[in-house]
Amino acid sequence: MARNWIPVRGGEGTHSRQAHADLPEGTFEREMSKEGFFGPAAFFHHKRPPTGWTSFEGPLRPRAFDLAALNEATASPWDAPAVLTNAALEVRFWKLAAPMPALARNADGDTLLFVHTGRGDLFCDFGHLAFEAGDYLYLPRGTMWRLSPAEPTAILMIEAVNTHYKLPDRGLMGGHAQFDPAMLETPAMDAAFRAHQDQPGEYRVEVKKRGEVSKVTYAYNPLDAVGWHGDLAPVRLNVRDIRPVSSHRYHIPPSVHATFTSDRFVVCTFAPRPFETDPGALKVPFFHNNDDYDEVLFYHAGDFFSRDDINAGMLTFHPSGFTHGPHPKALKSMLVQSKPATDEYAVMIDTRDPLDVAPGVEPVENPRYVDSWKGG
Ligand SMILES: [Fe+2]
Repeated sequence: MARNWIPVRGGEGTHSRQAHADLPEGTFEREMSKEGFFGPAAFFHHKRPPTGWTSFEGPLRPRAFDLAALNEATASPWDAPAVLTNAALEVRFWKLAAPMPALARNADGDTLLFVHTGRGDLFCDFGHLAFEAGDYLYLPRGTMWRLSPAEPTAILMIEAVNTHYKLPDRGLMGGHAQFDPAMLETPAMDAAFRAHQDQPGEYRVEVKKRGEVSKVTYAYNPLDAVGWHGDLAPVRLNVRDIRPVSSHRYHIPPSVHATFTSDRFVVCTFAPRPFETDPGALKVPFFHNNDDYDEVLFYHAGDFFSRDDINAGMLTFHPSGFTHGPHPKALKSMLVQSKPATDEYAVMIDTRDPLDVAPGVEPVENPRYVDSWKGG
């Protein structure tokens, strides 16, 4: 499919030859592209930042939500408020204050839990796995599980509706780049698991199928396997174990930070990395329109260098077609950065299909987010 793009190799006026580098003096680069950053692209050199609007109204406006301010904890993940949804993806934000009273099982698709704050234990069919802030916990569709937090926990829950998570193709970097598969931890059938499975009592499993929850009750703990084998299991990966790809001479598109892929979206991790040092290379994200992908960013920790007024626990949503780039303050460092490296952890979800904002998060929306580029 990618072979038959309409063939153009053009250039007009004053322009550089290498994307994201050596821009004509005083100009701002904007990329318009196909299939994220993988298809044909045009690079414009603008006299002014393409986000210098004086007003912006309508459904294409970017949205920002302070998810950390959603203060209701729910015992079941299926009661956690939805944030963004489409047919391929469901994003929820889940606060869990105490051990889950019931087991959960997702019959709709694979689940990815990103632990924003908190720590505790995961018990599942496969055994026991401790978790902490910064962990991705991958739960294959069908896994029975419960979390027992040791402190209040907040989780970004990302469901691959009716399908799977996989790892991205590492291509020329080789299969051990970014994180070695050996860094993926799987549950252990350890003493904590055996103690958990032997606890007497009535156990309820809440199974989600087609968005509806069925409750199945047992007179014993159904996490009673004495062993397992195979090539399918939950895994844990912490963001601090991700070794980001960077180039000192080129601002690599964010797609290089892909951590998990699904059929119609990708989950990327921004982890601290050195800034580019080549004098002509861009040191901030280039302006772009997200022409084919909706873009979601969840800010986990650190100093979010390209955005003003963003704190940990916030989520931004840039619908496909919305032109964006660094905020005016960050843009001042477009070619020279005062720090040697970024200091941010963020989770990005890029979706090939448009997302709907769930009404439950509108109370924590910052309606002025679109103005943060104003006059830039
Ligand atoms: Fe973007």
